[in-house]
Amino acid sequence: MNDILLSVNLRQYLELEKIAIGAFAPLSGFMNEDEFMSVVKRMRLPDSRPFPLPVVLDLTREQAREAHGARVLTLVFEGIEVGTMVIESIFTCDKKAVAEEVFGTSETQHPGVAHFFKMGDWFIGGGVRLTQRVISEFSKYELTPDETRACFAERGWRTVVGFQTRNVPHKAHEYLLRLALEQADGLFIQPLVGRKKRGDYTPVAIMRGYQTLIDHFLPPQRILLGVLSTAMRYAGPREAIFHAIIRRNYGCTHFIVGRDHAGVDQYYGKYDAHELTRQFDGELGIQIMRCFGPFYCALCSGISTERTCPHIESKPEVTRQINGTDMRAMLLNGGICNPEFMRPEVLDSLRGLPVFIEGDEE
Ligand code: ADX
Repeated sequence: MNDILLSVNLRQYLELEKIAIGAFAPLSGFMNEDEFMSVVKRMRLPDSRPFPLPVVLDLTREQAREAHGARVLTLVFEGIEVGTMVIESIFTCDKKAVAEEVFGTSETQHPGVAHFFKMGDWFIGGGVRLTQRVISEFSKYELTPDETRACFAERGWRTVVGFQTRNVPHKAHEYLLRLALEQADGLFIQPLVGRKKRGDYTPVAIMRGYQTLIDHFLPPQRILLGVLSTAMRYAGPREAIFHAIIRRNYGCTHFIVGRDHAGVDQYYGKYDAHELTRQFDGELGIQIMRCFGPFYCALCSGISTERTCPHIESKPEVTRQINGTDMRAMLLNGGICNPEFMRPEVLDSLRGLPVFIEGDEE
């Protein structure tokens, strides 16, 4: 037996696509066992290049048994052949120990851990080729790294800040976007629209929110809005490095890491991602812009940061962090907007759209 077929779900298809278009460079395939273990333990590939998170194609035990002895794997998504893999290794791992390393916890309340445990217990690694790209509702925004690089060059941008987000834009985000525009020629806003957890924002709401902000409040000629269709892993500091590497591949020169980047609940410290990215300074091929705050301060009369606001120390009661819970209350509360936190125009533009993801996505 030389070739076998494997039906992949959307999350797995998107991983294949991102590898093939170069979004996850230097990866050119799903990780084999050596790569996987090296990344889990050292946040580096076996040749020492930084890479903080596993990128794996998972299998059930049954599928792993079937694949044993095969040479080539044909990947099928919704009945269409989408790619092939030259099989290098089929392996399993101690998932609890891996979760501790990657997520810093093996608690299943952590959505990244829960999903990792739900995935198949076996992995199949090897170089991949994409034979058919699937069209999705966001394909028109989904440029490849080659296309974004060409776009930046055409616009004459020599410095470009990448911005990762999974939220409808609020005033703290806007502050960071303006900081980026102060510093660089261009800004690449690339919301993540792959698999996320229940209660996160829908892609359509995020994109509408950003389009409104760009159309009415920011200089559109200095901004490119795209999407990154890949799963959110909620791995905090490690994921900040992953997000930076991806934006490097798309041609950005700088990448914003703010407060609790890619964090969830209380699993990571506010600025843990600042610290971890610092360990890789000079090696990522992209400069990290570590940003503090921003929060609302009544005495500063607007958005401020630890670096500019004296009141956060002397009168913390006049400051308010802009957090997901407040945003949710505003969005669910018949749309009553607190303009200190979010622009009413952004909120208005979401009316009639599904704003929150209702079920867990595959
Ligand atoms: S995520 O990938 O980091 O989960 P999110 O939309 O929450 O996406 O944040 C996008 C970027 O803005 C991240 O770099 C994050 O650290 C930063 N950020 C988000 N909210 C705040 C906030 N209230 N204060 C400071 N930085 C923030």
